[in-house]
Amino acid sequence: MNTDQYLTFALGKGRLADKTLQLLEKIGVTCEEMKDKDSRKLIFVNEELKMRFFLSKGPDVPTYVEYGAADIGVVGEDTILEENRRVYEVLDLGFGRCRMCVCGPESARELLLHHERIRVASKYPNIAKDYFYNRKHQTVDIIKLNGSVELGPLVELSDVIVDIVETGSTLKENGLQVLEEICPLSARLIVNQVSMQMKQERIGRLLADLRTALARS
Ligand code: PRP
Repeated sequence: MNTDQYLTFALGKGRLADKTLQLLEKIGVTCEEMKDKDSRKLIFVNEELKMRFFLSKGPDVPTYVEYGAADIGVVGEDTILEENRRVYEVLDLGFGRCRMCVCGPESARELLLHHERIRVASKYPNIAKDYFYNRKHQTVDIIKLNGSVELGPLVELSDVIVDIVETGSTLKENGLQVLEEICPLSARLIVNQVSMQMKQERIGRLLADLRTALARS
């Protein structure tokens, strides 16, 4: 297969991928094989449109796009900020809206206020570091976790967490609060820097169609 002929998409597994496929369908880009949830296949091809799609772990999407293994990626802005890859961020897709926040028990508010040296657990150590060191000028100890970060303060691993808040129900069910808001987030379309030039026409058309579809929704 000459992959240069194809436009290759990397999608982060899960909710964002589903929403992305719904959006692509609105502009006539479909991939039937991908809808089979039981399939263990990793790459899906639409021969007619000369498009390929693959699903990967969210944090790997910018990596595939930076190295040109995918021309285009769809990923949360949180991942873009955390991974800091050399890619073009070209479109806010509007869905996947949430907030990056410092969260913890109410009692931790005081520690933040007095710039105490606290322990911060997060799946996003770079975002946490940037926020505390560069924006708040507060020295903290950052502990990297890979999920269920809300456990951190509950089992006294950390004083607070830096994590995504969408509906707020995970925090509520665990007696935690948003203590500070770092930034709003949404799903973004990213493009490989070389593909942007080499496949300019196809990518340009795709972006124009997506913008039109987003404006209508
Ligand atoms: C994310 C995030 C929070 C939760 C927030 O976790 O890390 O835990 O969703 O959503 P809410 O405000 O709507 O409750 P995810 O579901 O990705 O699982 P993980 O904790 O295992 O990473």
